Amino acid sequence: MTDIVSVAEARRADSVGREVVVQGWVRTRRDSKAGFSFIEVNDGSCFGNIQIIAEAALPNYESEIKRLSPGCCVGVTGLVKASPGKGQATEIQAAAVVVHGLADVKTYPLQKKGHSFEFLRTIAHLRPRTNTFGAIARVRNRACNSIHQFFQERGFLYVHTPIITASDCEGAGAMFQVTALDLAAEVERGEKGVEGEKGVKGAGIDFSKDFFNRPAYLTVSGQLEAETFACALSKTYTFGPTFRAENSNTPRHLAEFWMVEPEAAFFDLQDDMELAEGLLKRIFRDVLQECPEDMRFFNQRIDKTVIETLEHIVESEFLRVSYSDAIDILRKSGQRFEFPTAWGNDLQVEHERFLTETHFRRPVILYDYPREIKPFYMRMNDDGRTVRAMDVLVPKVGEIVGGSQREERLDLLERRMREQGLDPESYWWYLDLRRFGTVPHAGFGLGLERAIQFITGMSNIRDVIPFPRTPGNAEF
Ligand code: 4AD
Ligand code: MG
Repeated sequence: MTDIVSVAEARRADSVGREVVVQGWVRTRRDSKAGFSFIEVNDGSCFGNIQIIAEAALPNYESEIKRLSPGCCVGVTGLVKASPGKGQATEIQAAAVVVHGLADVKTYPLQKKGHSFEFLRTIAHLRPRTNTFGAIARVRNRACNSIHQFFQERGFLYVHTPIITASDCEGAGAMFQVTALDLAAEVERGEKGVEGEKGVKGAGIDFSKDFFNRPAYLTVSGQLEAETFACALSKTYTFGPTFRAENSNTPRHLAEFWMVEPEAAFFDLQDDMELAEGLLKRIFRDVLQECPEDMRFFNQRIDKTVIETLEHIVESEFLRVSYSDAIDILRKSGQRFEFPTAWGNDLQVEHERFLTETHFRRPVILYDYPREIKPFYMRMNDDGRTVRAMDVLVPKVGEIVGGSQREERLDLLERRMREQGLDPESYWWYLDLRRFGTVPHAGFGLGLERAIQFITGMSNIRDVIPFPRTPGNAEF
C-alpha cells in the first residue's frame, strides 16, 4: 500500500522505509552531474521541504522533470530514506514523478527568495507559497484554534453575531454602508428630480427604500449583540470579521480585521483583565509549543526577540496601571512626545510604546480611562470622570485588546448616550437588557491580526492577514 502523506509526515524519521506519495509545489531543482536531480517540494503542512531524488532513468526525466522550476506542482511516489544531508531526517527516492502543472520561469514571479513584503502584497494570490506567508498562515491557524479551545474549556458559548447591522457599537462613525440601491441611478434621480417621486431635486438618497428599509452597515464590533446573549446565557464569545472605514494608513490598521470578543455576565473589570491575560498567554504558549519551526524562522529572519519575549510573557504577570498613573509616568519621563500627555487625552502609539518598551518593558493593562475618550457603553466610576475601561498594551504593537465593564444602570447609560450625541431610541433593544433583569457584565475585543503581528514580529499588519483591505486596496 502506498499512502498519500503530507510533507510533514514524510519528513519524520519514523517514515523511513515507507512507500509514499507526496504532493506539493516545487521550491527548487538542482541537477547533479551524476545523473539525477534534487527537487525540493513543499505542501504547506510544515515549514520544511522534502527533498526528492529523481534519477535520470525515470521515463519523463528529460521531457518533464528537467523542466521543473519554482512553482510547478508535482505528485511524487517513492521510498522514504534516511537523508545524509543536513537539516532533514529524510528524503524520497522517486519511483515516479507526475507533473500536475508547470510554471513558466519567465513569468512566475517567485523564482528567488528575498522579495520585499511590499512586492509580495502586489501578488497576494501567490505569497502563500513563500516561507514567511506559509509560517504566518500556520501560526494564525494555531492561534484561532487556541482561542476556541480556551473559551470552550471555560464554558463560554460561541455565538455568531451579525455582520450587517444598524448600530454603531463604537460610536465613532467609521462604518461602511451596505446598500442594494443602484447608487448611480439614485444620484441621477436626485439631480434630475423625477416627478411624482420623493427624490426631489437635490434631496439625496432615500434609504427607507433600501433593502432593509433603513440605512445598514458592516459591523465594527459584535459586542452589542454578544451582550444580548451574555445577558441570557452568561458566558459567551463571538469571533468574526469586523469592518472600519477609518482612513488610517498605518502598519497597525486594517479596514477589515478579525476580532474575538468574549462577553460575560457577572464579570467585573478585574475578571475581564484576568480573562484577557489568560487568553493571550494561552495563545502564546500554544504557538511556541505547536509551531516551533515557524517560530524559529520568525526569530531568525523577522525579529530576533520574538521567542524570548513570548516565553517571558507566558511566565510573568501583566502589570495593571491606571490611566492616571500612566499619564503621570509619561509626564515625568522627560521624554519628548509629538502628542500631548495631558490628563484627558487619548494615548498615542508613541505613548503606548514608551510605556511597554522603555518604562515597563512588558505588557501592561491600563484601566480607568477618562469617560470623554471612551464609548458610551463603559461603566461609569464613582468619581464621575473615569470609566471601567481596560486596554492591554504590548511592546511594538501597542493596543492589542480593548474592553470594559459595561454600564448596567439604565439611567446612566441613557445619559452617556446623549452625552455622545447618540439617540437612545435607536438602541431600544440594547437598553431593554438594562430594563429587564440587568446584570453586571464585562467583555473585551482582541484584534487577531495585532496578536499575530506581536507573535511573529511582522512589522506591517497587512502581512498577517491573507488579503488585506486598506484605503485604496481591495484588488484580490
Ligand atoms: O478597542 P476596540 O475598538 O474595541 C471594540 O471594538 C470593543 N467593542 C470590543 C469589546 O469590548 N467587545 O477594538 C478592539 C481591538 C483593538 O484593541 C485592536 O486590537 C483591534 O481590535 N482593532 C484593530 N485591528 C486592526 N485594524 C483596526 N482598524 C483595528 N481597530 C481595532
Ligand atoms: Mg480601543
